[in-house]
Amino acid sequence: MSYFSDVTNICWFLEAEFGREVVRLHNVVGNAVTEGRHIVVGTGSSQLFLAALYALSPTDSPEPISVVCATPYYSSYPSMTDHLKSGLYKWGGDAESYEKEGPYIELVTSPNNPDGHVRRSKVNRSQGFLVHDLAYYWPQYTPISAPADHDLTLFTVSKSTGHAGMRIGWALVKDQEVAKKMTKFIELNTIGVSKDSQLRAAKVLRAVSDSWELGNSKESESFFKFSHKLMANRWKQLRLVVESSELFSLPKFSPAFCTFFNQVLEPQPAFVWLKCEGNVEDCESFLRGHNILTRSGTHFGVSPKYVRISMLDTDENFNQFLDRLSAIMS
Ligand SMILES: Cc1ncc(COP(=O)(O)O)c(C=O)c1O
Repeated sequence: MSYFSDVTNICWFLEAEFGREVVRLHNVVGNAVTEGRHIVVGTGSSQLFLAALYALSPTDSPEPISVVCATPYYSSYPSMTDHLKSGLYKWGGDAESYEKEGPYIELVTSPNNPDGHVRRSKVNRSQGFLVHDLAYYWPQYTPISAPADHDLTLFTVSKSTGHAGMRIGWALVKDQEVAKKMTKFIELNTIGVSKDSQLRAAKVLRAVSDSWELGNSKESESFFKFSHKLMANRWKQLRLVVESSELFSLPKFSPAFCTFFNQVLEPQPAFVWLKCEGNVEDCESFLRGHNILTRSGTHFGVSPKYVRISMLDTDENFNQFLDRLSAIMS
């Protein structure tokens, strides 16, 4: 097995079959424009995130370009950005309060990890490069409003289908030079991306598209109908527990029309962004005292009154979480 997949493609390690299934799935779901885009495959979208920072950073700048994101932000962004103390880019904090002149990179995560809200860029200045992290822009989590049509968009099988261990993500990139630089980064970093994983991911994406196109006419349920129902059921149970007390609160979401399911639907994010009301200042410690492990708001750039909890754990763990949460209130 050689390193190469298609030497005529900018991303020469992209397996053609995986590329085809990415385009097909976006067409089936209607969540991203793929026409006029270069597909760059990565070892998870995490590798593509670093490749994007490398590709977008000016090479002739006297100081590193700032990388910003509105709070609460995905907790890995600051640590991934600053881990190697790059001379090209550095973490610049909250996009809402970013005021420096000159070029910057803004990360737009929509729907957002940790709070599930739909987002747009905040800084809105002419010298900004935007990276749209749309890991959760899939119909089981959020209503699909329109095909995303950005300069650089990241997706991952970790969240679209739950295959995090496969370590496959993809970027849709408008600018050819940016796609070339991202490819160069991955060449220098890992000399490409596992072909085994790409072929396996292609098979999974094909099964998901098939299940929608064929599933509606057969007895079996499509992947997105199944996963949407599962998330809806978990959110319903969680709301019943949380809303029965004044100890906690949840974010408020507005229903919106979903072009995929063709109906108005509520967002049902992959995470609960829970706030401890009243005089509990450290929600993480409070919940740990009740055997519920969470991630404090401080990791996401906000107050410790907030915590993030996964909604994607096994049925057994999710039910245990609900039982323990209910026990606090009774
Ligand atoms: C917003 C966001 N982006 C990226 C990732 C990482 O994705 P991957 O597993 O593809 O590296 C995650 C994982 O939690 C995430 O929440």
